Amino acid sequence: MKILAFSCREDEEDLFYRFGEKYGAEMILRREAPRMDRAELARGIPCVSIVTTPFDGKMMEAFYAVGVRMVSTRTVGYDHMDVARAKELGMAVGNVAYPPEGVADYAVMLILMSIRRAGLILARGAVQDYSLRGVRGRELHNLTVGVIGTGRIGRRVIQNLRGFGCRILAYDLHPGELEGNARYVPMDTLLDESDVITLHTPATADNTHLIDREAIAKMKPGVLIVNTARGSLIKTEALAEGLERGRIGGAALDVVEHESGIYYRDLKGVPLDNREMALLRSFPNVILTPHTAFYTDQAVSDMVEKSIESCVAFMREQRL
Ligand code: COI
Repeated sequence: MKILAFSCREDEEDLFYRFGEKYGAEMILRREAPRMDRAELARGIPCVSIVTTPFDGKMMEAFYAVGVRMVSTRTVGYDHMDVARAKELGMAVGNVAYPPEGVADYAVMLILMSIRRAGLILARGAVQDYSLRGVRGRELHNLTVGVIGTGRIGRRVIQNLRGFGCRILAYDLHPGELEGNARYVPMDTLLDESDVITLHTPATADNTHLIDREAIAKMKPGVLIVNTARGSLIKTEALAEGLERGRIGGAALDVVEHESGIYYRDLKGVPLDNREMALLRSFPNVILTPHTAFYTDQAVSDMVEKSIESCVAFMREQRL
């Protein structure tokens, strides 16, 4: 049973071999990301494992044509794949689950960094400016935090926040059970009453630019926005405008629009093809991290293992 893993990082290599052996799969590891013109690499291999790079309908067709029957992404989100086209072709697609704690911890870290202006404190410290001007923070127990999306990660964020004593509002298209001191409210109430808004919803066709000019106009002046979910949830132009006008007090973003091809690469000295990202980086009250909320020892191990496990289960079932 052969599996071709694209975009294999150095820190995944041992895991691929170890879990390949555990599940009886022969692993072929490639550093390159999958592309149309790389479909030939997968000729005769039934399953490929990918990460975040786009895998559109044309790529599904190209990989299907060389014999690939399953594309497994080593991520929870699968908005980078054309699942509908895969289904039409009769190809299986899969994603993985790893514990929500890593991303939830990171979201809380970004919330705390935002309310304490840690980005600015660290930037100033780097040039030996230890003054207090402009870095007075706020205390979480005095604030209301709005959590948009109460899936596994959103719920874990709520649990984490309980100890801080803040008021917690939640919104989800499909409300579930919330323990503790969080309560579901309509979206407009959450936007109107939250001092901090944190996003935890998957990217879908319907929630692109969920946070746009209209939503920002409904927010509390000085609101802090934290995004560890997907860049497409926020219209960057509207966010930048809100920051420029002082309506938004700050943002901590682990994801941004059009990050693909930029994040996870060392692009020192290279002009970036993403002006909005450059604009965001120019704000002293914006913290940008390169989609690293997921990046823990536990998550990386689970991403590799679950991807192999699901490919092997598929090949067994299909007798491939
Ligand atoms: C996911 O698993 O959905 C992530 O966001 C992690 C990542 C490597 C894109």
